[in-house]
Amino acid sequence: MARKKVVLTSPTAAGDKLDGPLLEVEDLRTHFLTPAGTVRAVDGVSFTLARGETLGIVGESGSGKTVLSRSIMGLLPSRNVVRQGAIRYQGHSISDYSQEQMRSVWGTEMGMIFQDPMTSLNPVMKIGNQITESLRYHLDMDKGEARDTAIALLTSVGIPEPAQRFGEYPHQLSGGMRQRVMIAVSLACGPRLLFADEPTTALDVTVQAQILDLLHQQQRERHMAIILVTHDLGVVAGRTDHIAVMYAGKVVEKAPTSVLFSEMRMPYTEALLNSIPRLEDSSHTRLKIIGGRPPDLINPPTGCNFSPRCPYAQPRCFTDEPPLRPADTAGHEFACWYPVGTPEGTKALEDNVAAGVPAAVLATGGEPALADQGASA
Ligand SMILES: Nc1ncnc2c1ncn2[C@@H]1O[C@H](COP(=O)(O)OP(=O)(O)OP(=O)(O)O)[C@@H](O)[C@H]1O
Ligand code: SF4
Ligand SMILES: [Mg+2]
Repeated sequence: MARKKVVLTSPTAAGDKLDGPLLEVEDLRTHFLTPAGTVRAVDGVSFTLARGETLGIVGESGSGKTVLSRSIMGLLPSRNVVRQGAIRYQGHSISDYSQEQMRSVWGTEMGMIFQDPMTSLNPVMKIGNQITESLRYHLDMDKGEARDTAIALLTSVGIPEPAQRFGEYPHQLSGGMRQRVMIAVSLACGPRLLFADEPTTALDVTVQAQILDLLHQQQRERHMAIILVTHDLGVVAGRTDHIAVMYAGKVVEKAPTSVLFSEMRMPYTEALLNSIPRLEDSSHTRLKIIGGRPPDLINPPTGCNFSPRCPYAQPRCFTDEPPLRPADTAGHEFACWYPVGTPEGTKALEDNVAAGVPAAVLATGGEPALADQGASA
């Protein structure tokens, strides 16, 4: 089948604004129309990403991290989806690109490592061919050139005996090796932006660290920007320039990484941080769990989405939705009426502990009365 090329509208075309941000996302909304109602999976997300930078997107399961990445890449189902807002890539508005135009962006400009390599690698195709396919399609390489490049890529992502592995199938590799192959596939055409969606979730801790180090090394060598999606604040701590925390389809706090950890304002961010096991904790230390369940995205709560679970919540939180507002440090924004570390936040938490509010008692290390457990959910 003859390959169709898209010309000029591709962001690689002449006229790229090389001095501007790589990616700008403005008030992005992705809603799914389902028989049960409208699922507001992404609900007004804005951020910018500079070239070569890493943005961590963190949040619990169902907070909209994958839908956000897929919305930017134009990888959404074709029906019953409403996507609104602006997405600019190198100054080009790609939100109104057709699927065919986006195809010229995938691989060469934006790559994606999916959550589960077993579902994204083709199980009946040799791993080498999964890499050469995109090299031949996008970069017009001949068979020999594509094979040499694929073997070099497998080598660079740490696959031993790459020439032999080239002819093997995904099921013949371990989970860590499959994830390395997935990285090689996504890097093949030299994207400037890589989405890494929970790239290490299914792997054991040592392999996780190796894969994250590999991504970091590839990023430095290629001056590539990364959007690193994870539910684990610990994963993004030392590996990102900025972090955006998502809750129920919205960004509720974003900041340069060091600022987020030293000056976090949003109680949900604090709860995520407290739920990470720390090396210095003894094995008997109980993790502070986030009580209650994430909200229903079809009928979200009135006011702040986190209010039914928040240790700091006050009456206003159940009626008025807090807007994202700037903190003292440049680039830091949060959405909360009673921010962590401020006099009003401290008083709200103290009042809730004194009143025996289960979420507040749990968050401060106490045991809520049995009859109260789950009452905050
Ligand atoms: N095609 C779809 N139709 C309806 N709802 C959808 C669809 N795809 C995703 N959703 C819903 O959108 C919400 C966000 O899903 P998403 O996959 O982005 O979460 P996530 O943050 O990536 O979670 P996880 O950490 O489990 O991967 C979820 O409530 C999910 O059920
Ligand atoms: S204090 Fe109120 S506004 Fe802030 S996160 Fe808790 S519920 Fe939301
Ligand atoms: Mg996901």
